[in-house]
Amino acid sequence: MTTDPINIYEYEQVARERLPAAEYDFIAGGATDELTIRRTRQAFDSIMLRPRMLVDVAEIDPSTTVLGQNIEFPVMLDPSGNHGRAHAEGETATVRAAAAEGVVTVVSSSSTYTLEVIAEAATGPIWFQQYLFRDPGFTREMALRAQEAGYSVICLTLDSNVTPKRERNIRNDYQLATVPNYPGLDRNESGAISQFRTRSATWRELDQAMADIPLPVIVKGIMTGEDARLCAEHGVQGLVVSNHGARQLDTTFATIEVLPEIVEAVDGRCEVYLDGGIRRGADVMKAIALGARAVLVGRPVFWGLAVDGEAGLRSVLRILRDELTMTMAACGKRTLAELDGSVIGTVSPLLDAFTQPEGLRLPHV
Ligand SMILES: Cc1cc2nc3c(=O)[nH]c(=O)nc-3n(C[C@H](O)[C@H](O)[C@H](O)COP(=O)(O)O)c2cc1C
Repeated sequence: MTTDPINIYEYEQVARERLPAAEYDFIAGGATDELTIRRTRQAFDSIMLRPRMLVDVAEIDPSTTVLGQNIEFPVMLDPSGNHGRAHAEGETATVRAAAAEGVVTVVSSSSTYTLEVIAEAATGPIWFQQYLFRDPGFTREMALRAQEAGYSVICLTLDSNVTPKRERNIRNDYQLATVPNYPGLDRNESGAISQFRTRSATWRELDQAMADIPLPVIVKGIMTGEDARLCAEHGVQGLVVSNHGARQLDTTFATIEVLPEIVEAVDGRCEVYLDGGIRRGADVMKAIALGARAVLVGRPVFWGLAVDGEAGLRSVLRILRDELTMTMAACGKRTLAELDGSVIGTVSPLLDAFTQPEGLRLPHV
């Protein structure tokens, strides 16, 4: 019997045993009651697949492009702070693992190592995540630094301008880690990073940033058709349907629930990605079938790193890829382009029978 973890949940279990409890809580936890964390898994788990027979699925190709860059399968690594909390090599291990498995890493500005050191370690495409800062000059400066270092896309996270209430961290008196990308800050003591942040940014500041940044810009944190339409109108090249892993605001919908509304609002004007709760290859397929171009994973990156550094993260990615190709094959789909709503069902065909007073009537056999 193999003792290595064989799925993402087992990776989490092993990581939990190895990490200090407060670190595990910081990574796994969410805002207030964590209702949306639970809802997210329920939402994915309640989407059923419709398998198809007698289709030639000898060859499955899950590759695609994101903003013109080739990726081997439609899973990217989410920006998330301080990978050093899971493994000493931090983001340098992350970018190596992603490149080896043929996917893009979106590196967080709150990384353990500087963006330059991480870029140095990367052998594949890397994107950089930052914020619309209080000082537009600093927003531009950080993006230019990233461009200079070799990052090819800037991801502006929009959903973190309000400090969330994460009760596990309050109980654990959790201290945030190092943030070497921010000048003058050794540690993010008491959220010192917030001196760079602003709650007053509007679509005007986004326009300004896009004019200032000479790289494609995507935004992260979109949860409504209204905002998705505005993103398209303001000319972003991509958006991530995300609620920040339910870490900012609780009792939002699961991202997969709002994906169709957002895809419709965007109407092909920019690429749509999704994150939040992707733990199985089948989840990836469900998101693609509902209109996402690719998905991103956040917490599974920490679980892979905590278990076995670069090798652990490569294994996490391979598991997702293998589960995805297996699921595509069983549903008679050879490429991502063949995936559409016909592979999934969200409403039980028996629902009427369950809700009728006479119940389910079976034909005589
Ligand atoms: C420990 C941790 C740190 C994070 N830090 C950032 C960050 O620095 N910037 C950002 O845009 N999102 C950050 N996120 C959110 C992730 O990018 C992503 O939206 C979320 O984790 C996706 O959900 P999942 O973890 O269920 O895959 C963080 C998430 C976690 C778990």
